[in-house]
Amino acid sequence: MNAASMVNIGIVGFGEMGKRHALEYHHATQGKMKFVAVVEPEEERYREGCAWYGQSPVRYTSVNDMLLNEQLDAIIIASPNCFHLENLKDCMASGLPLMLEKPLETSFEKICDIVRLVRSYQAPIMVDHVMRYAPIIQKAKQLIDSGAIGKICSFNFVQYHGGGALFTTYRRTLAGGGGQLIEKATHDLDVAFYLCGAAPRKVTGVCRRQKFGGDKPEDLTCSKCDDFSCANRVVVGENSNGNVKDVGLSHDLCSFADVVDVYDNEMCLIECTNGVFGSYSHCFFVNNHFSRRYEIIGTKGILYIELTMREKPADCDGRITLARHIPGLPNKEEYKFNYEGKIHYNGGPFAGRHFYEVILGKTKPLTTVGDAFTAEMVGIAAMKSSEQDRKIDLERDIVPEDLLPVFKDAYRNI
Ligand SMILES: NC(=O)c1ccc[n+]([C@@H]2O[C@H](COP(=O)([O-])OP(=O)(O)OC[C@H]3O[C@@H](n4cnc5c(N)ncnc54)[C@H](O)[C@@H]3O)[C@@H](O)[C@H]2O)c1
Repeated sequence: MNAASMVNIGIVGFGEMGKRHALEYHHATQGKMKFVAVVEPEEERYREGCAWYGQSPVRYTSVNDMLLNEQLDAIIIASPNCFHLENLKDCMASGLPLMLEKPLETSFEKICDIVRLVRSYQAPIMVDHVMRYAPIIQKAKQLIDSGAIGKICSFNFVQYHGGGALFTTYRRTLAGGGGQLIEKATHDLDVAFYLCGAAPRKVTGVCRRQKFGGDKPEDLTCSKCDDFSCANRVVVGENSNGNVKDVGLSHDLCSFADVVDVYDNEMCLIECTNGVFGSYSHCFFVNNHFSRRYEIIGTKGILYIELTMREKPADCDGRITLARHIPGLPNKEEYKFNYEGKIHYNGGPFAGRHFYEVILGKTKPLTTVGDAFTAEMVGIAAMKSSEQDRKIDLERDIVPEDLLPVFKDAYRNI
């Protein structure tokens, strides 16, 4: 790190997220975060990443080589979920501040191993639960903390969308992605516990695979398939979301292959500390209707957070409606948000600046490994609950004894 507080960063996995982090964080810090090296096994992905970033970080094919040859100030791990443990182990040899993409890993064992691994690490590790940093979520948190809806009682979180971009990647198998409750819902669950200031304790889940999977060969891709009537046909390089300018599809694996073992329609009921309870549900085969909506109910009112809007008004991309009945106060207040054409509800630049401050030692990570672990245990519990047809007590049935202190400390005092 030099006097002007320029920091040199290495990225492990220069794919969709890796290349976005490079460009977005570079801009968000006026070039103070400089991405000088990447570990990327695929030459083609490396070239795409350089074209996106507009610069050519030095390419390595192993973390060890990168560490031997570069003077770095921090590392971001953005490889596929199933390589996080392996990559993290190698990166920890550096002793540098790290940012780890969510989810921590794919399986229960590997997620637990990550938590054990980082216990003795001296440098900070931030998990990229990017939604927490989004202005719309920060505003909701500020409203809740100011007492706008009274004491928090319950929540109802929903997200529905077409699964094209998710079931055509490594995320289509449990071994590759961990399942959607780990891979995707970890964001929503993290936000739920963060906003409500409550930690999960008991979980009941129903998890089903109702559309994807089938008997197609594992190596079939859309580009090689002659079924042109397939509703989940995707084209590599195509934009997966017309409303956001920078989401491209980089995989076209068949979502009806025999290896697909991830649930596509799931629901869970969660009992938390502080008497709070809530539900979370998602479905990944709802086409032409992307919705991500959160309702949080307090003793004095409700917050309705529309991360996505059905009617697409000209003046905002997302909205919070605060509705309550308190004499002397308006019955309804609205707060509107423009995402400036960015994914993740414009949380990326804020997450990037936060990581920059973490690297400089000016602050600690807001989104910790302990919180991510706890949110991911809810996904593990929901799947177990569904398979065993019973309510799961996280402390008694899921969390290993040696990790109970981390679990009990999560989502406290926030
Ligand atoms: N925070 C978020 O909102 C968010 C959003 C999307 C993805 N993600 C996470 O980011 C990570 C990457 O996802 P993506 O969509 O960019 O996937 P991707 O497939 O586009 O990119 C992953 C890259 O890692 C490379 N890679 C593969 N094996 C590797 C290894 N062993 N070591 C290093 N690199 C390796 C691949 O060649 C590829 O270029 C995942 O963990 C995913 O869950 C997070």
